[in-house]
Amino acid sequence: MKNIVIAIDGYSSCGKSTTAKAVAAELGYAYIDTGAMYRGVTLYLLEHNIDFEDLPRVEEALHQLHITFKRNRRTGRNELCLDGVIREDDIRQMRISNSVSEVSVIPAVRHAMVRQQQRMGRKRGVVMDGRDIGTTVFPDAEVKVFMTADVHTRAVRRQMELAVKGENVPLDDIIHNLQKRDHIDSTRAESPLRRAADAVLLDTSHITIDEQVDFVLERVSSVLVDALRVAEHG
Ligand code: DC
Repeated sequence: MKNIVIAIDGYSSCGKSTTAKAVAAELGYAYIDTGAMYRGVTLYLLEHNIDFEDLPRVEEALHQLHITFKRNRRTGRNELCLDGVIREDDIRQMRISNSVSEVSVIPAVRHAMVRQQQRMGRKRGVVMDGRDIGTTVFPDAEVKVFMTADVHTRAVRRQMELAVKGENVPLDDIIHNLQKRDHIDSTRAESPLRRAADAVLLDTSHITIDEQVDFVLERVSSVLVDALRVAEHG
């Protein structure tokens, strides 16, 4: 069976990573959470007291830092490592969510991350989620999905995720953070968040996770069936 690239883009907290992870598990594909990579860079800059506007220092940091993923055998999760150390919990904190959009507008940061993501997916057989996968990282992805949901639904989901980790954040703060990130992500000059012309839209406001996963898997099946037909009949 042909190995393809599945690009899942969209707004924050629409269920992209939950969907992408389940689709990858179903297909035996690798899952790459590109948002985690931007969060990793943000954590590094904050911990090294590097001003986001100090471009020479940011560029130097990009040469120094090593972002990798390590599979946690117990949970089956791919966890983000910064310089070889698992930092998955640290990158999900609100202090990182509050700064990550400012870091991800920096062109040098984007170039470095996009290059690494293209390397990670060069053998295909990957599900990648983010903001610019279908437009910039893999414009030739065979399946492109653009996810959205109303902001209140997204905020409630994010609040629950944070509460599970012991971080209790008022709903208004989360709504404010999501709206701010949506704005920065979609108006930045370099590869802004937008739906690729050939991406299918998936609104997750009123559907279950199983329905989201089935929606993507159906797209995958139809692409694979078409590829098989072309291979058989030319
Ligand atoms: O998916 P997430 O919320 O963890 O992503 C964190 C931030 O990273 C998000 O606000 C925008 C940025 N991002 C990006 O600019 N490009 C990507 N491909 C993925 C994330």
